[in-house]
Amino acid sequence: MSSALSVSVLSPITHPRLHRRRCPAPSLSIKNSSNGKPTPSSKATSWVSPDWLTSLTKSLGTLGPKDDSNIPAANAKLDDVSDLLGGALFLPLFKWMNEYGPIYRLAAGPRNFVVVSDPAIAKHVLRNYGTKYSKGLVAEVSEFLFGSGFAIAEGSLWTVRRRAVVPSLHKKYLSIIVERVFCRCAEQMVERLMPSLVNGSAVNMEEKFSQLTLDVIGLALFNYEFDSLTTNSPVIDAVYNALKEAELRSTDLLPYWKAVIPRQIKAEKAVSIIRETVEELIAKCREIVEAEGERINEEEYVNDADPSILRFLLASREEVSSTQLRDDLLSMLVAGHETTGSVLTWTTYLLSKDPPSLRKAHEEVDRVLQGRLPTYEDIKNLKFLTRCINESMRLYPHPPVLLRRAQVDDVLPGNYKVYPGQDIMISVYNIHRSAEVWERADDFFPERFDLDSPVPNEANTDYRHAHELQLFLLEALIVLQLIHLPMLYFRYIPFSGGPRKCVGDQFALLEAIVSLAVLLQHMSFELIPDQTIGMTTGATIHTTNGLYMKLSQRQSASTSAAANP
Ligand code: HEM
Repeated sequence: MSSALSVSVLSPITHPRLHRRRCPAPSLSIKNSSNGKPTPSSKATSWVSPDWLTSLTKSLGTLGPKDDSNIPAANAKLDDVSDLLGGALFLPLFKWMNEYGPIYRLAAGPRNFVVVSDPAIAKHVLRNYGTKYSKGLVAEVSEFLFGSGFAIAEGSLWTVRRRAVVPSLHKKYLSIIVERVFCRCAEQMVERLMPSLVNGSAVNMEEKFSQLTLDVIGLALFNYEFDSLTTNSPVIDAVYNALKEAELRSTDLLPYWKAVIPRQIKAEKAVSIIRETVEELIAKCREIVEAEGERINEEEYVNDADPSILRFLLASREEVSSTQLRDDLLSMLVAGHETTGSVLTWTTYLLSKDPPSLRKAHEEVDRVLQGRLPTYEDIKNLKFLTRCINESMRLYPHPPVLLRRAQVDDVLPGNYKVYPGQDIMISVYNIHRSAEVWERADDFFPERFDLDSPVPNEANTDYRHAHELQLFLLEALIVLQLIHLPMLYFRYIPFSGGPRKCVGDQFALLEAIVSLAVLLQHMSFELIPDQTIGMTTGATIHTTNGLYMKLSQRQSASTSAAANP
């Protein structure tokens, strides 16, 4: 009884019948870069995994008759894989999921990737980080920027540095930066947008959100004013160039970045500028901490004059070199900037396409805030807005794929074998959009996540196949301790899961909620008609040409209350 239940409800993907089922073709709600035919130049420069390469790899035996992995090999077509280079990598991965099922092998140049679109396998791989899996390729592509930063470090260095950094993101810190950083930066953005409200000019909201989130992360990490919404400095350009390079490298599947080409030289210069700036900030902050003899004297310590993470880390007196500290902070800068910017971009896009949801979000913001700026306490009452952001992160996860490398022989759920050195791509995009996993998978439907339940995450979001009776039985099994809760789920993984899960998840959600709430208080927005909103990938899902909106001013709840007492 219990095993029948665990097959059909808990891990549908481990059921061979389900593994053979094909999902219907995706109906993406927007035009995307893979809809158009590949340009002649993209064909000419594509050298990743054409048909012949799959055949060659097979004939060499990597995937051939000796392959006992049970993993089907995708027959990748040159036209499809031209998207892998600088294009929307996750779109052909989705197409192949529909053809080959929730696990398949993809040859990409001399590498081959096992592509996973299945919650149970994703859970297995992500949770076994450190024992059976490492980060692998991710560390290789971004080492030029992160150095030894803990976002890409492995082994004991990662353990030690993650343990040192995580305490800085405590509740008191978050509640303070809601007001001192998130609200302040969001208000500045609204101010800068005012002229466009008056003259009705089109605004590229993707660009604005990218500037906003850079300003936020600069203040929150180092108490540093990028002020990118108003100024243009070499540091800001350097940050953008370095991020761009990191993004390009993450989509380049062959390590040709090791060759010196102009793009790399530009990126190296950019990295030097950023490193020098961060080193100066560390040196100045260290001087102050030393001069004041500052030490952390309570669990949730915040320095009132400078609540930044840098100040916390220096005051904590951990044994750490300035270079390591610099690389850790850079890790957080990169990990926390474009991700939140992209979440804001796609949430705004989705709301603009769904006027009833936009109206509901406006009403909620007016009702809860009454024209005030949001406080930390207000955020838990902005339930619908939070669900809009959760749902946007389901449809547009950043990054859309996660990479891991097998360290040892392993057998994945469903009896698929992998061997040491095997690169694995977990397609979060596929899991989040799979019709096997979600009802109405392609629809923007914020209410799918119950408004009064905890914020959805990898450990509390169940399978679509779980009906009420099954859920009842499931709960009974958990109570009887016949199964453990962590054995379930991993169908909603916007912040990943397992030991390498995002450390900034709460920070990011608070930032996104506050930024949108302040924006919605003051304005409404509609898409400029006839623009093609394509998707392209870097570390996050970007639009191909920007997200142009027409903004209009609205009366906030307090003004309307004053007008109609
Ligand atoms: C909505 C915004 C964000 C999203 C979608 C996001 C997503 C992610 C994901 C998916 C990972 C795990 C990657 C993997 O498993 O390979 C990750 C890791 C990480 N994130 Fe975030 N993130 C966001 C915001 C932030 C912010 C604001 C910060 C910093 C304040 C941050 C800091 C980090 C760090 C340092 C790691 C590496 C953790 C480790 O390897 O131990 N992230 N993020």
